[in-house]
Amino acid sequence: MAAGSQGVGEQWSSRTAFLLAAVGAAVGLGNIWRFPTLAGESGGGAFVLIYVLCVALIGLPLLLAETLIGRAGGHNADSVGSIAEVAELSGRSKSWSIFGGIGLVTIFLILSFYSVVAGWVLYYVWLSAADFLGSLMAGNPLAGAFTGMSQDQVTGMMGELFANPFQLILQHAIFMGLTLAIVAVGVTGGIERAAKWMMPGFFGLLILITIYSAFTGDFGAAMSFLFTPDFSKLSPAVINDALGQACFSLSVGGAILITYGSYVPRHVRLGPTAVMIAAVDTGVAIMAGLMIFPIVFSAGLDPAGGPGLIFQTLPVAFQQMPAGALVGFAFFILIFFAALSSSIALLEAPVAFVIRRFRIGRRLAASLVALAAFLIGVACALGYNVLSDVRPLWFWPTFADADILDSIDDITGKIGLPLAGLGVAIFTGWRASRRLVEAELDMSRGMFLIWHALVAWLAPVMVFLILLFGLVPSLLA
Ligand code: ALA
Repeated sequence: MAAGSQGVGEQWSSRTAFLLAAVGAAVGLGNIWRFPTLAGESGGGAFVLIYVLCVALIGLPLLLAETLIGRAGGHNADSVGSIAEVAELSGRSKSWSIFGGIGLVTIFLILSFYSVVAGWVLYYVWLSAADFLGSLMAGNPLAGAFTGMSQDQVTGMMGELFANPFQLILQHAIFMGLTLAIVAVGVTGGIERAAKWMMPGFFGLLILITIYSAFTGDFGAAMSFLFTPDFSKLSPAVINDALGQACFSLSVGGAILITYGSYVPRHVRLGPTAVMIAAVDTGVAIMAGLMIFPIVFSAGLDPAGGPGLIFQTLPVAFQQMPAGALVGFAFFILIFFAALSSSIALLEAPVAFVIRRFRIGRRLAASLVALAAFLIGVACALGYNVLSDVRPLWFWPTFADADILDSIDDITGKIGLPLAGLGVAIFTGWRASRRLVEAELDMSRGMFLIWHALVAWLAPVMVFLILLFGLVPSLLA
């Protein structure tokens, strides 16, 4: 789809705007929730090391590949249109765009449950705000969090939320509504403006809470946990998790980066920008570990707390910390910013497609996509209570025990994203015109050859393995 035809028709106003929006898309629940959870469960340092290697050798080359396909496909395109356009310019079949379509459907499904999980964060924002206000009114602004509650009551708050379908759906609706309100305004007026406000707020809070954590928590224990690799903990499953997490966190997988890439002005150099996006995203994930684990260790809690790490383990730790009520509130605001800047990207990718394909206005397209994702999310929320017996993939032994949300998480993370990423890697490395790709990248010959080898050889093999092991986990046993 060439520039000028029906489509979104907007561009980022500057390189900084693109950088902030792409960092916003990358930095999300994946960094603050999933990365520390996986690192905690997989023994820390060895996982972190493998994760950084996966980002550098596979995630970053793919991030660059997707962004360049987006820009090369013309300024009005989406992931399907961009791949089709590059295929046509390269004299290849347009059916390669099927991988853009798989990426798009995957991203749409991720949005549906991402908003539900972000709704939990929102619920904790309200809880911690009320808690902090309570401590202020009691004349003790430096009180610990949830004073007067037993440890069981604090950890039980999550269970209470899950048992309440109304509350889960309400928070999910508010979060999806906020995402819609931003995306409906447009690329520069909505997404870019939101990123310019939220990302500095996010980084400010991250730095402040990490400093707080370093001084009040057990920073030494966290440093050695995150940076002393225990290679006995490494297994093929941990390596597979690290690679999948690297791709999820960078938003690699056939839709978001192609769409965001299609809004990048021609004068922006993609290589250095992609390196910055990957570096910031990885830095934030590691900093999130340095923010969370000192608190967890100083409270004598379990770093392998699983998905409850930030919703159950940390609130218990905040109970005992000085100014825990204030820090808890700031912590949940920080996660909320991270989640919102990512959900914006998750909504924008399918919206760009709907605008172009159905030739409708942005507001209508955004409302329709958000409504559809909201409804699927409602099913995910009900899967924790009234539909808790439902196992959507009961016929598929690998996923037979998963509830509704986990089933969508499994299908998207283990099949959708790797399949789309695999297709885009093969397309960029082997089918797209070398001349066109080189012109987009504008890098030295040596760097180009290294990047090309990673995209054409290493990434397809490794991403194929994620797909294979995701579908047949017994191979990893
Ligand atoms: N890349 C986003 C995250 O890490 C989806 O949460």
